[in-house]
Amino acid sequence: MSALTAPPASVILFDSGIGGLSVAREIRAAMPGLDINYVADNRIFPYGLQKESVLIERVCALMPILEARYSPGAIVIACNSASTVVLDALRTQTQVPVIGVVPAIKPAAAQSQRRVIGLLATPGTIQRSYTRRLIDQFANDCTVLLVGSSALVSLAENKLRGIPIDLQEVSNIVAPFCHAETPPDIVVLGCTHFPFLREELMQVLPENTRLIDSGEAIARRTRHILEAQGLEAQGAAFLERVPTLHFFFTEETDSAHELAPALLSLGYQDPQYLQI
Ligand code: DGL
Repeated sequence: MSALTAPPASVILFDSGIGGLSVAREIRAAMPGLDINYVADNRIFPYGLQKESVLIERVCALMPILEARYSPGAIVIACNSASTVVLDALRTQTQVPVIGVVPAIKPAAAQSQRRVIGLLATPGTIQRSYTRRLIDQFANDCTVLLVGSSALVSLAENKLRGIPIDLQEVSNIVAPFCHAETPPDIVVLGCTHFPFLREELMQVLPENTRLIDSGEAIARRTRHILEAQGLEAQGAAFLERVPTLHFFFTEETDSAHELAPALLSLGYQDPQYLQI
């Protein structure tokens, strides 16, 4: 395909709410001209409290419809709670590559000096056998402290809506890390909502705690996959083009529309209800 005829590349980013925007931020830094159709499945938010079977059924039902509608080059499930359970089933339903986001246990174990790692995620992700396998495979010589919280997901949602964050609440949630006999030197943000609370977390965790997430690695992987489809052929013109960024949600609520100012400041058009 020549640079002139290649259609602009696009991806679908999918999460229960605004969390996947932390992944979108990294993807946009790597590929500024990429069109994004972001879908927040707020109808069954929060994903971290849903049964595994509900998530599999829901995501596998939605994604073929979204794929047919937006013809993406790739689909990014920008949600650890979903990725740790739906990927195998989902990949049998879709035509394009599906990229999942799972907790960054491997890099955390590679970098931890203290050999004590914290995993901060949703209750669902904390309980998954997928997460257990990641720990066994990559961090079996580390102590891994697990904290699951859905309240933190809601705090991140609130922050994007301009609602002030109660630091004491954040502090109470991460208290098991702070009060551990040996506190972790690295805390994995195993929920895509949590990078939006990086500043607040840094204020309440012991000094010098490092926070890591999967966003950059996912952006690299997405770029690699799109390049294999000819993105590179679009060259500099692609990097410089102004992308179209859509944000859709699946349940018409006031709180979905309250995101409009934050989305606008991030370059997205007004959030739209996606009847699906
Ligand atoms: N952002 C999601 C995750 O990475 C889901 C949060 C939720 O809806 O519970 O797990």
